[in-house]
Amino acid sequence: MKPLDPQKLPIHLAVIMDGNGRWAQQRMLKRIVGHQRGAETVKMVVEQSSLLGIKYLTLFAFSSENWSRPVLEVRALMTLLKKYIRQETARMMRKNIRYNVIGNRCDLSDDVNETLDEAIRKTAANTGMVLTLALSYGGRQELCRAAAHLAQDVVDGKLSAGDITTKLFDSYLDTGGLPDPDFLIRTSGEMRISNFLLWQLAYTELYFTNTNWPDFTINELHKALNDFQSRERRFGMTGDQITERGDLSND
Ligand code: IPE
Ligand code: IPE
Ligand code: MG
Repeated sequence: MKPLDPQKLPIHLAVIMDGNGRWAQQRMLKRIVGHQRGAETVKMVVEQSSLLGIKYLTLFAFSSENWSRPVLEVRALMTLLKKYIRQETARMMRKNIRYNVIGNRCDLSDDVNETLDEAIRKTAANTGMVLTLALSYGGRQELCRAAAHLAQDVVDGKLSAGDITTKLFDSYLDTGGLPDPDFLIRTSGEMRISNFLLWQLAYTELYFTNTNWPDFTINELHKALNDFQSRERRFGMTGDQITERGDLSND
């Protein structure tokens, strides 16, 4: 495999971690075993991304729509989430990683929110990678919340409708302050976005692999990043313009 060019890594990598259930079912195991194995892949991807110098890693861990799953699966996922955060916070401190959460936290139980708050507080001063967990997250729901908040600010006279630009709207999203993802990886062979970061993925390079999340390895991550490095990002311009400019920003 080609070595990675450290200058051409995504600044923000987003991942739809999919296929835990099928991984387990193919082995006659319970779906939760797939989620447990998936948590090991999370550790690897967090560690590798931070080692590579990726500045922002965003993981789709639980969607707004995932609340419709069987109660026992939802409960098991929440228990696993709490266990993961508690176990990993010390490592996040050693690796200088800062936790961040996007999604509708009102839907999460008090104990999950307390665990998240503690991890966010403890890692708040870390200056390395920002690890964003998308929990109870849905892109449409996020856009609605942002629109409602913006409308309220107009009603309150803090701004007028004419002030609304893409940049301002961006700051009302849960991801306000984060750059848009440069690269999105989705595992398990599904080629859809499933309501993830609908606004933010406008110019993201997409990568799909058939591998289920628990089987996703360091090699696969490097293969995906190699693929990213071979892409030409044009942001609506021509290839020649991009070559002349020699940069990859979309501002
Ligand atoms: C991803 O794996 C984890 C979550 C959505 C929480 P799935 O649980 O969706 O696995 P499949 O897609 O059923 O195989
Ligand atoms: C997307 O996976 C959500 C997460 C990875 C957390 P799903 O498994 O929920 O997506 P669909 O239902 O197959 O689109
Ligand atoms: Mg799935």
